[in-house]
Amino acid sequence: MNKVALIVNGSPATATVEPRTHLADFLRETQNLTGTHIGCEHGVCGACTLLIDGVPARSCITFAAMCEGAHITTVEGLDNDEIAAELRAAFSREHGLQCGYCTPGMIVSARDVVMRMDNPSEHDIRVAMSGNLCRCTGYVGIVRAIQSVVADRRSRGIAAIRDGGRKELGPVGSGHAAAAIAVAGTPARTPDKKKSAAAAPAASSAKSDADFKPQTSFVQSFTVAHPADVVWDFFGRVGEVASCLPGASLNGEPVDGHVQGMIKVKVGPIAADFHGVADVTRDEATRSGTIIGSGKDARSNSATKGVISYTVKPGENPAQTRVDVTIGFTLTGMLAQFSRSGLVQDVANRLIGAFVQNLEARLAHQGDGAPAPAVAAEFDAGSLMTSMIKDRIKQLFAKLFGRT
Ligand code: FES
Ligand code: FES
Repeated sequence: MNKVALIVNGSPATATVEPRTHLADFLRETQNLTGTHIGCEHGVCGACTLLIDGVPARSCITFAAMCEGAHITTVEGLDNDEIAAELRAAFSREHGLQCGYCTPGMIVSARDVVMRMDNPSEHDIRVAMSGNLCRCTGYVGIVRAIQSVVADRRSRGIAAIRDGGRKELGPVGSGHAAAAIAVAGTPARTPDKKKSAAAAPAASSAKSDADFKPQTSFVQSFTVAHPADVVWDFFGRVGEVASCLPGASLNGEPVDGHVQGMIKVKVGPIAADFHGVADVTRDEATRSGTIIGSGKDARSNSATKGVISYTVKPGENPAQTRVDVTIGFTLTGMLAQFSRSGLVQDVANRLIGAFVQNLEARLAHQGDGAPAPAVAAEFDAGSLMTSMIKDRIKQLFAKLFGRT
């Protein structure tokens, strides 16, 4: 993790993020500046365009750590900007937006055109704005809006600024490269292979990284229709608990609190088998426990590390138990896209729902000799997300039309 310090919309902004965190995620997730939209995340659509040291840049393909010390201006920071205000009025007047998804990026790029280009033709504007895609308007209103602002400003004697405020040669943000390397602590070109190998996480123990701070964490609570004594006992049988989690299995019960196992996850076309280790601790006095685990999937080159803490408490009546769970994890590699907080929270709700259902079924059949209820052999996050999206659409319709 890297501590990154930027000046965002004129104020200092600091957060500790992964080296791979791009600037758009930094702003949206750590600064709550959601005006910077994310579309393609490939530098193609322009929805995430903002200003780095006054120059338009794609924040989805710019690492936050590489901008150390830079002045970032998002669409929120253009509230009182004269050109942006004129553009906002012109976009409304000329029907330059419909859903508005592309608009923050459009305003930032259009502002650069208005500032830099003296007397651009319609063709010049279309070329200059070709890095910003709009799926709604057909661009006619957008181009007209920009033309009208340019014409109005020139008629008021406000000339273009040829360099548009650029102060450095080279790619946007490159003026800060040296500082960024110092912050990341990364040697520029020649990594010390021996040192890297020594620093690699030990596979034999998940506890070894005492300083581990999860990138995403959340708290969940659920109620089980069985007494607290029964639930607490069950939580002590780690293999059985794992078998309630879709896709999870252990190689055996913990030895000295240490256990190995795997979880099968499917996200869209990506199927991953995370093989890993976990350290399990339990405290009878407080009826609480902790599981610290880490795992890797070789196929998707993804890795995860996480901490689960839980407390078992009596429920509202003696036949019920309340379980409070805190989950924190960091996901890296191809599946890291999956760790967006809102999405994770939704999926976690459903995963815990499935876990509770399986837990109830197992507790209900405890000791009656009946075979254990079947649990999904794979955690299919993709289908969970599809049903989640359906639910959200349903909720939206219910809100709009007052029915489901
Ligand atoms: S989200 Fe950055 S260019 Fe599309
Ligand atoms: S207004 Fe909808 S994408 Fe441009």
